[in-house]
Amino acid sequence: MPNPGGANDAPSFPLSEIKRLLGEQAASLIDHIAQGAQERDLPLYLAGGVVRDLIMGQRNVSIDLDFVVEGDAISFAMSLAIKSGGSVQEYQPFGTATWTLDSSAGETPAHVDFACARSETYSHPAALPTVSPSDMQRDLLRRDFSVNALAIQLSPRERSGILLDRCGGGDDLKLGLIRALHQNSFVDDPTRILRAARYASRLDFVIEATTDEWMRAALSLLGRVSGQRLQNEIDLILREGRAGEVMLRLQKMGALAKIHPAFRVSSQLPELLERCNELRPPWSSNDINRQALRWIALFTEIDADEARSVCERLALRNKLTHSIVASARLAERISRLEDRSLRPSQVTKILDDFADTSLQAAWLLSVERPYAQDLIAAYATEWRQRRATTTGNDLKARGIAPGPHYRRILDRLRFAWIDGDARSVEEERQLLQKLLEDLD
Ligand code: CTP
Repeated sequence: MPNPGGANDAPSFPLSEIKRLLGEQAASLIDHIAQGAQERDLPLYLAGGVVRDLIMGQRNVSIDLDFVVEGDAISFAMSLAIKSGGSVQEYQPFGTATWTLDSSAGETPAHVDFACARSETYSHPAALPTVSPSDMQRDLLRRDFSVNALAIQLSPRERSGILLDRCGGGDDLKLGLIRALHQNSFVDDPTRILRAARYASRLDFVIEATTDEWMRAALSLLGRVSGQRLQNEIDLILREGRAGEVMLRLQKMGALAKIHPAFRVSSQLPELLERCNELRPPWSSNDINRQALRWIALFTEIDADEARSVCERLALRNKLTHSIVASARLAERISRLEDRSLRPSQVTKILDDFADTSLQAAWLLSVERPYAQDLIAAYATEWRQRRATTTGNDLKARGIAPGPHYRRILDRLRFAWIDGDARSVEEERQLLQKLLEDLD
């Protein structure tokens, strides 16, 4: 029997496994997309991390579906949306498109990505690639590691299920190896140094010896990578279960210092991140921003001024930079909370400058200082919101000329409540009277 394209000789991936591993809804979405491509005679592939995870027999937790077409990915995504609804965001310069589905529930992904098969060339080390249309076999060669250079063909129908593995990714999955595809891989894209460390920890794989040499030889090029790209990679690392181990590995190899000379992380980072992942400060509601807390945990070894400079290097957004720098300042003050003679109002003065994220971080990161931790919790649950009943308007009504003494008087009244020196409106009134007499 004729065998067009030699499909019967090629290794294949049983498509029934897709349903078993990704669930019925994701599998029928893949099937629907495959049919769309088959009707148009458009070669279509599922590629990258999802294929790696399928071959490993793992569920791809976020069901991140990356499709590659040999042809126009944008118009293919558009045609799917016209037929089945949803919206398409196109990225013309890269020839890629994201199709956001109308309704995503349960195991259906919220969106899927389409790219055209492409080759990449780099004008200089660490440059963004220049992309040119290509075929799937060559597309695999431009990728970071053999275990990510895998694809399952879905269209045309007679080639459906063929596994493309020209870089030995299948063998490396069995051997547990992270292997780069060529000597210049890390020179072209030094962010792959961070990716190698991330995948090695996530998959519990070893970085293959030659890859490790290539990686170390390219370390200094990390200095040329844009802050945004480094930030993206570190953000992905921080979402991993073993993020602390990954960052320590990068530190040991000298990668962090190449990103910024002041960038160093604590040897306790795995435990610190575990607390950020699992503990909840007693006053915190459900909307705790754990990713911001993880970022703060990265900076416990860096003083506030250096932290600002590292944040700038990583192009972190202003709000996160502010939380990190404020947390570094707060950490510098934490030892003052060990003074057992401090009154609640003095604790309040130390903590009043800080937003809730920094207080949460300080609480999470000072587990070995239970006394300070209790004071932070008491401040956040109780003292922070305590106000005197007297207001600025009351002072005005008494005919006191506005000025900086307003704040001083109102603070004194508030602190009296916090310290228990004023326990009733009457006691506050008496104290106010005394403060006003002192003013005269
Ligand atoms: N890729 C690459 N070099 C990079 C980033 C990505 O070669 N610096 C390639 C890899 O082949 C990767 C694919 O692009 O598989 C998609 O990248 P990404 O979405 O970041 O990774 P996933 O494959 O989805 O893997 P995971 O999300 O599990 O990390």
